[in-house]
Amino acid sequence: MKITIIGTGYVGLTTAVVLAYLNHNVSAVDKDSNKLSLLQEGKSPIHEPGIQSLLDEVCRTIRFTPTVADVVPEAELIMIAVGTPPKMDGEADTRHVEEAAREVAQVCLPNRHYTLVIKSTVPIGTNRRVAEVVADVFAERNIQGNISVASNPEFLQEGLALQGAFYPDRIVVGANNNEAFDALRRLYQPILEQTFDAPTMLPRPPSYHLPPMMTTDPNSAEMIKYAANTFLALKISFINEIAGLCENVGADVTEVARGIGLDSRIGKKFLRAGLGWGGSCYPKDTAALLRVAAQADYSMPITEAARTVNFEQRQRIVQKLRTVLKTLNGKTIGILGLAFKPNTDDIREAPALDIIRQLDAEGAYIRAHDPIAISNAQQALSDINAAYINVDFIEDVHQLSHNADALLLVTEWDQYHRLDLRKLAKNMKTRILIDGRNVFSPKEAIAAGFHYIGVGR
Ligand code: UDX
Repeated sequence: MKITIIGTGYVGLTTAVVLAYLNHNVSAVDKDSNKLSLLQEGKSPIHEPGIQSLLDEVCRTIRFTPTVADVVPEAELIMIAVGTPPKMDGEADTRHVEEAAREVAQVCLPNRHYTLVIKSTVPIGTNRRVAEVVADVFAERNIQGNISVASNPEFLQEGLALQGAFYPDRIVVGANNNEAFDALRRLYQPILEQTFDAPTMLPRPPSYHLPPMMTTDPNSAEMIKYAANTFLALKISFINEIAGLCENVGADVTEVARGIGLDSRIGKKFLRAGLGWGGSCYPKDTAALLRVAAQADYSMPITEAARTVNFEQRQRIVQKLRTVLKTLNGKTIGILGLAFKPNTDDIREAPALDIIRQLDAEGAYIRAHDPIAISNAQQALSDINAAYINVDFIEDVHQLSHNADALLLVTEWDQYHRLDLRKLAKNMKTRILIDGRNVFSPKEAIAAGFHYIGVGR
């Protein structure tokens, strides 16, 4: 199928590359000239495992352009995957989605049928709003255009985006007409039937079952995205709340998570206690859902509590440091990990940034290491705070501990699991290890000479 994707962020680029791999004829539009020139040279502007090698395979077949008019008229299906940043009150701003829909309606041909797919995460009712925008443009152009609007929320996880795209649990489509369902069924056929040759670096998981395509109305499709993210966010907040109580009563939350996760009604995923969730989705989507609720005159105390518990985790960990070091003023703290989770350089809403701000405010010297997110973190810390926060960014993890008063693990990168704790402990001033993600075995950390503090154990 001839497809145009508008927006080449995590969702748009992953989708473009995967659909091109599945032999669709893909074009991608982005107004960001820096991003575009990288893509035109075949370079991925995002760090995502596997994306560069897949892009190497397919980039010659994808047309990257800044102009909707270059590619939309000939397309059969157009996907909007632009950002919906939060407004001051948390509401998701759909301005870019509506702009994209307007541009599409302005250039599409009157005698052709198009399917316009909303992939961006949008408040409930946006599908209807987009259909209105399209109808208004057709009225201005005085044409009888033919566009079916569908909602197709995206569930990809950063760091695992390609797995999620090739081997999804489900595909959700919301629309009011069968043409849109048919178009999306044709688009996703290779995935629904798993008829494609799996990329070498992404073999089909042996236990993988064919995914269902769930069809529903647009409002429900939009709600499914928010409900899924909020449920996962509150699952994590729940285990973090239990972790706090485990600390007070002498239980180990990793054992508790194992024990409850074995109940198939609960499931073992997303029960890792630690510093809680960050990233571009859960903080933003839970806030946006609360705005949707407020506008509908409805209260959502569970969602509110999940947010409170989540953001308190960042303060609790600093409190642990304060308690063990007596004061943070003048102390040297080494931070292991800046990205909001491993395998990404994304630092949006990353716990590390909040923790660094708190430590800085209390006069600590901060050193920080991350395998790939240092330059993003540097930028974020200087952008957000007019008063520059002085962080020593360290490339070699072993330099982090030299004469340090404490180490604080924030992101569970694989390479940290393999750290030689004895070597780290050796050159520290005081051997304190705060493990914000329960990565290390307490026994091994203690044997290496550390005063070890985890989360909920
Ligand atoms: C999430 C959803 O998983 C995805 O379906 C949606 O499309 C976008 O939002 P993402 O934000 O990339 O994806 O990351 P995810 O793997 O879900 O993790 C989010 C955060 O939760 C991370 O900060 C992670 O460290 C944290 N987390 C996750 C935990 O603290 N404990 C867990 O058990 C799992």
